[in-house]
Amino acid sequence: MERIKLLLAGAGFMGQKHLKAAQCLDSAFYVGIVDANIKAAQKLGSKYSLNCFSDIEQALEKTKADAVDVCVPTPYHLSTIKHCAEYGAHVLCEKPVSRTIEDALEIKRIADKKNIRIMVAQVLRFWPEYVHAGEIASSGKYGKILSIECKRLSSPPAWNSWIIQPQGGGGAVIDLQIHDMDFVLKLLGKPQSIQSVGRLYKGAVNAVHNKLIYAKEVSVLIESSFLFPESYPFRMFFKIEFEKAILEMDFWRVKGERLKVYPQKGSSYYPVLPGKDAYREEIDYFSKRLIDGEKFNDSPFEESILALKMCLASEKSCLNNQIVMID
Ligand SMILES: NC(=O)c1ccc[n+]([C@@H]2O[C@H](COP(=O)([O-])OP(=O)(O)OC[C@H]3O[C@@H](n4cnc5c(N)ncnc54)[C@H](O)[C@@H]3O)[C@@H](O)[C@H]2O)c1
Repeated sequence: MERIKLLLAGAGFMGQKHLKAAQCLDSAFYVGIVDANIKAAQKLGSKYSLNCFSDIEQALEKTKADAVDVCVPTPYHLSTIKHCAEYGAHVLCEKPVSRTIEDALEIKRIADKKNIRIMVAQVLRFWPEYVHAGEIASSGKYGKILSIECKRLSSPPAWNSWIIQPQGGGGAVIDLQIHDMDFVLKLLGKPQSIQSVGRLYKGAVNAVHNKLIYAKEVSVLIESSFLFPESYPFRMFFKIEFEKAILEMDFWRVKGERLKVYPQKGSSYYPVLPGKDAYREEIDYFSKRLIDGEKFNDSPFEESILALKMCLASEKSCLNNQIVMID
């Protein structure tokens, strides 16, 4: 099979995770690393014997990459993607697609104009426990969803300071909770409105509780925080109440027992899930869709914009103490 040549942009936390996860894929391989900080690129590049650059135009010219894996800080997604589009390279972009809807729409406009393909790396769409919950929901096996509760609880990121800042990553209300907003969006579609309460830290909403309001009868609560103490290990959690069963996922449980099903009839059980790495899966999926020319149906760009809209509405609700409609 033809393999996609990937250029990694951004050698930080996520760039390192992607590169490690995607070793020995049949669908793609990395041909270089670009980072504004050449030392960061070189440190990572020496581990994987990759050419390193500090300038993206030069990196694209020299590596002849088919696609760029964009792992630079969120405020630089747009400028990085502009370079990719000028060169004609497709884009796998880390979430959130951008800090603002204006940037997201500009990214879409540029991609359409220059005929490049973009997928946002909404990793929960490839995370086995979350994928399984989606499959159960769409199968109708346990009836319809009555309620959902999601949590994503973390201490402030230790590896950078821009994520928790208002003009950087936008804080937990944007950077962290976009994962669960996107998960709920996939399960239930777009809510009508959102009511949120949050706590400011360093000028951004870094702890937030939300109620998502739907026309249909379903209750949805999401909590996200970057303000938990370091002594509290990172936790992601969901509980989905179906008509005929409860599904509960807790990242704190050992692998293989994280997702548990409690049916109304019969005993509880742990579904057997593929032990797949979600980051590897998303890079593989992106590369395969470039090869076969099929759409990114598992992670459509329009839904990544909608997930961002939901986060921005949550931020507005916190800041103005009001229910915010989602258009
Ligand atoms: N999917 C997830 O679970 C997850 C987790 C964390 C971060 N992220 C996302 O990944 C992206 C990167 O976050 P991170 O935590 O890896 O950041 P980071 O700060 O750890 O690393 C960013 C790297 O990009 C480099 N850089 C900065 N501006 C650049 C530019 N204009 N061109 C090239 N390189 C540049 C920096 O020198 C740094 O090495 C963000 O969009 C973030 O929201 C996703």
